[in-house]
Amino acid sequence: MAKLLIQGGVPLCGTVRIHGAKNAVLPILAAAMLPHGQSVLTNCPQIADVTAACAILRGLGAQVRTRGGTILVDATSELDDCIPSAQMQTMRSSILFLGAMLARCGRAELSYPGGCALGERPINLHLQALRQMGAECSVTQERIVCRAARLHACTVTLPFPSVGATENVLLAATGADGTVTLCNAAREPEIVELAAFLRACGARVRGAGSSVIEVTGGELHGAQKRVCPDRMEAATYLAAAAATRGSLTLSGVQPAHLTAVTQAFRQAGCELIESEQEIRIRCDRLRAIPPVRTAPYPGFPTDAQPPMMAAMATAAGTTVFEENIFASRFRHAQSLREMGAKISCGRKVAVVTGVETLHAASVSGTDLRATAALAVAALAAQGESRIDGLAYLDRGYSAFAEKLRAVGARIRRVEDPNYE
Ligand code: EPU
Repeated sequence: MAKLLIQGGVPLCGTVRIHGAKNAVLPILAAAMLPHGQSVLTNCPQIADVTAACAILRGLGAQVRTRGGTILVDATSELDDCIPSAQMQTMRSSILFLGAMLARCGRAELSYPGGCALGERPINLHLQALRQMGAECSVTQERIVCRAARLHACTVTLPFPSVGATENVLLAATGADGTVTLCNAAREPEIVELAAFLRACGARVRGAGSSVIEVTGGELHGAQKRVCPDRMEAATYLAAAAATRGSLTLSGVQPAHLTAVTQAFRQAGCELIESEQEIRIRCDRLRAIPPVRTAPYPGFPTDAQPPMMAAMATAAGTTVFEENIFASRFRHAQSLREMGAKISCGRKVAVVTGVETLHAASVSGTDLRATAALAVAALAAQGESRIDGLAYLDRGYSAFAEKLRAVGARIRRVEDPNYE
């Protein structure tokens, strides 16, 4: 199995180019099956989840061509309405094809999605919303079958602003008769991106980025879209710069999407300078900050919590992390402890007391952001760490080792399955 070998203790210095956002491109790829035509997506990250989404589209009968960061999806011909379980298991956002298939085909057959194990991740809010829009859904442990000759105009209120449920409603609503109004919608930038693509395809979408979104569907045509920068990739490199007391320029970013994260690093004593598409961070020393409470956007993002915790493991003083989105998102804490971090965890709260230095260890990531957090810690630690769990990392970060090596990290990726 592939591993990362990281000789830590080197302050990172240089420029990292941030790729397109995983969590923006995945719903847009599902949306690309809606128009009877060709769509062109640029600035797409070259990561495993994108490969998986393209495979699902091909399985449904769309033609998909990729060249570097550009993906062409041609959904002109008739499409299938069924996704095999193996493909559903590859990632969480396979569930977004549910809303898209309903809108396009009037029927969708699939199974529960896979994805990172962050605690229970039900899809009850997705199904509840689609039922309110007129879909008949039959659900067993193995299969989910939803049907709707036509979805209808209605108002749907989500009990919680779930990102995925919001996206599924937007996708399905493009095939409804009349206007669907979604209340308590998620406000993440990735929702705004999906809405922009749907609008470019000819749908009427108003209010994305606020809690109330209105969608009026109709005949859609293919469209072009440049995917916005990945704010979680950016947050990870900010954490790596802070943890190594380095100085990085992140290029190709959207600073406005990262306000909660940059504010936390500023409070921790880092110097940050933002311009239109760049963030420069410089860190000489780190100090504890007021409690970091994860919350839906524009609050502190749950995906940035693990790398931020890795950085704060060597800050002077004690920082409290409160995780409010996922039930099981402190799984990186155990591995950070093995590297010398002082962390005590309750169900929702982790208390991190900074230590002078971390030391190298052989650790294994348990999910995408946890693995990134271990890499951040290893970059700061004394000695050579070995990190397993790269299948997780590859789902969301392209050229992770290469980008870090280019800014001075002593990091290599070993693919040899016999390497010990
Ligand atoms: N939830 C329910 N029922 C539902 C849907 C969600 O109870 O039907 C709960 C979840 O169990 C969770 C909370 O609501 O406790 C938030 O889930 P949400 O639906 O908002 O998240 P998601 O759509 O599954 C997306 C991102 C995650 C990110 C979260 C929160 C994608 C593909 N995934 O997941 O990203 O953490 O929103 O911002 O967009 C990652 O990139 O590493 C990642 C996990």
